[in-house]
Amino acid sequence: MKEKIGTLLDDVKAFKAENIEQLEAFRIKYLSKKGVIAALFADFRNVVPEHRKEIGLMMNGLKTAVQDKIVSLKESLENITETAVKADLSLPASAPLGTRHPLSIVRNDIIDIFSRIGFTVSEGPEIEDDFHNFSALNFPADHPARDMQDTFFIEKDPDIALRTHTSSVQVRVMENSNPPIRTISPGRVFRNEAISARAHCIFHQVEGLYVDTDVSFADLKQTLYYFAKELFGEHTKTRFRPSYFPFTEPSAEMDISCNICGGKGCNICKYTGWVEILGCGMVDPNVLDACAIDSIKYTGFAFGMGVERITMLKYQINDLRLFFENDVRFLEQFKSTI
Ligand code: PHE
Repeated sequence: MKEKIGTLLDDVKAFKAENIEQLEAFRIKYLSKKGVIAALFADFRNVVPEHRKEIGLMMNGLKTAVQDKIVSLKESLENITETAVKADLSLPASAPLGTRHPLSIVRNDIIDIFSRIGFTVSEGPEIEDDFHNFSALNFPADHPARDMQDTFFIEKDPDIALRTHTSSVQVRVMENSNPPIRTISPGRVFRNEAISARAHCIFHQVEGLYVDTDVSFADLKQTLYYFAKELFGEHTKTRFRPSYFPFTEPSAEMDISCNICGGKGCNICKYTGWVEILGCGMVDPNVLDACAIDSIKYTGFAFGMGVERITMLKYQINDLRLFFENDVRFLEQFKSTI
């Protein structure tokens, strides 16, 4: 009998159940009225008195082992069922939401601001011909002004290059439509520059163009003044400094009061209180003529800005390379609704 109980105990310890039904069968086998344990207790009558104590203890041990086994298997089977419920594919997804790239957030902000005052969005090719990137924009052939924009040319064809600015898109818009034209062109541009914290060979621009009768420099200033306040806040001041671009005359660069120190002076604005954010000017009549727009009847203004530079100012980012590395620890800090 000792042997029999020993084998039963081994069986009980080794038992595994894959589901509740198997466990229930196990319970019935051992603990029901006609089960194994009941039969053992029935046999107990025949045990000789000197062995009764020892065998009685073993039988109780076996019974407890069966009961413990049932409790523990039941618990683990219930856990499995719960996990199965958790993995229910029909439940709503709980994956963390991704975030928009900071350059996209700021580009969308810029588009949003200009859309509110009637500007449309136009796009064009990144691989351009000389006419749209340079000639139509009043860059004379072989003029050193072309060196201003360290161009990537296609080796086999000097007429084809990666666009150095999205002004090329505006040439295409002027060729294909009549004034009034009010459009902005966001996009990627390319310049042969060494990569550093402040420069990259690929960056993003938003350029704008407004052509109509009687467009004046006052319209240009007011539009950009509105833009700066919308993007950087109500207290933002602007100032215009004379500059040079082949395609605008007169040309200017616009500074805003430093959004970091509020104009008091800090290392971002190099203690001047001002930071440059864009180039602008009145469209040179030669450009209108090149695009078959009557430069006697129409005038226009244009402006262009780098999205990276504006994003760096807005979020106080000090290394441009962060935008291109796609490090999740950097990207997940930006949240937007736009
Ligand atoms: N196209 C110029 C650039 O890439 C920016 C600009 C656009 C300046 C329009 C004036 C007017 O730097």
